[in-house]
Amino acid sequence: MYLTKEEESILKGEHGESKRKAMELLVALGKIYGAERLVPITSAHLAGVSYKTIGEGGIDFLREMAEDAKVCVKTTLNPAGMDRERWKEMGVEERFAKKQLEIIELYGKMGVETNCTCTPYLAGNSPRTGDRIAWAESSALSFANSMLGARTNREGGPGALAAAIIGKAPEYGLHLDENRRPTVVIEAQLKDDIMDFSLLGQAVGVKMGASVPYFKGIRPDVNQAKIMAAAMAAAGSVAIFHVEGQTPEAKDLDLKGIERVQIDRREMNEMKAQLTTAKDPDLIALGCPHLSESEMKMLAGYLDGKKKNQDIEIWFCTSRRVKTWCPKETAVLEKFGKVLTDTCMVVAPIENTHKVTASNSCKACNYLPGLCNQKCLCNDSISLLEMVM
Ligand code: F3S
Repeated sequence: MYLTKEEESILKGEHGESKRKAMELLVALGKIYGAERLVPITSAHLAGVSYKTIGEGGIDFLREMAEDAKVCVKTTLNPAGMDRERWKEMGVEERFAKKQLEIIELYGKMGVETNCTCTPYLAGNSPRTGDRIAWAESSALSFANSMLGARTNREGGPGALAAAIIGKAPEYGLHLDENRRPTVVIEAQLKDDIMDFSLLGQAVGVKMGASVPYFKGIRPDVNQAKIMAAAMAAAGSVAIFHVEGQTPEAKDLDLKGIERVQIDRREMNEMKAQLTTAKDPDLIALGCPHLSESEMKMLAGYLDGKKKNQDIEIWFCTSRRVKTWCPKETAVLEKFGKVLTDTCMVVAPIENTHKVTASNSCKACNYLPGLCNQKCLCNDSISLLEMVM
């Protein structure tokens, strides 16, 4: 792998120990995946924030890095294990909270923006078409590759942090044109409804695995695209997709000879049935990926004037910025549940407080059984909210 003189000197430790470690990791990744060089990035997005997922080993690594490391590009952070202000209301233990706050502080010390959200592109970190970036968080990086036309691999937490510290990423995988081309054409007819896009993403992920789908017959808005990207990434490791007539790279693609697959209503219903393992939730969790401003408005519009009659906890997970933009909507939603920021139903330790979680997100329903010991009810948000009336 070719390194510039400056990159060589970083690797020799002439710019400090943390930079050396970061460069060592990038070079190792580059060699494994056959990169020829490092390319400058415009932003990074880091996962590995919840104390539940990174544990003591993760904190030790961050303590070491934070001694002298600083990120040199715009860098944002994925959700943590709790709302920084409302962790007691979530039933999070004090020991967990202290560790979690330390993790966020360590990232902050390195210059990372600590608005913990999995929708950075809706909250101030929105790359442009053609930008090279290093993003972890499978749903966000797929959205950035596909809907925004930026270029990132499916980075791990340490790899994204190393790229943020150096300001570069090894050029392989989805940085290269040849790996962004479609491998399957998906034809689907959907209702104009968020749940349908979640189920379509699940079906494509399950059926096609780590493919590059090219969709015909759909035109997702931001909310539909983000939930579809999340489901495809969780069920099948999809990191980029194209939509005919919509996504930035869709127009110049050659589809000759590519396999065509139709996804119909029967398959989507099957996905919903497979992800549903219980009927009576003790938690309804919406906002996977984090709710956008328009979703907050839609949910508040539906709930305004209604009354909660059933004692089922509801979480509306969003980013701190979106919550700030939606004070009226937050007031309506708070009559029914908690509008939580910084966190989500999967990375919070809900296994200590809940047994059955309902969500409209197939991504959440993929992960909740394994990561949170939950049974799941997968259904659209309005049907779930009707359960508390
Ligand atoms: Fe975001 Fe958590 Fe879902 S990080 S995409 S809300 S699992």
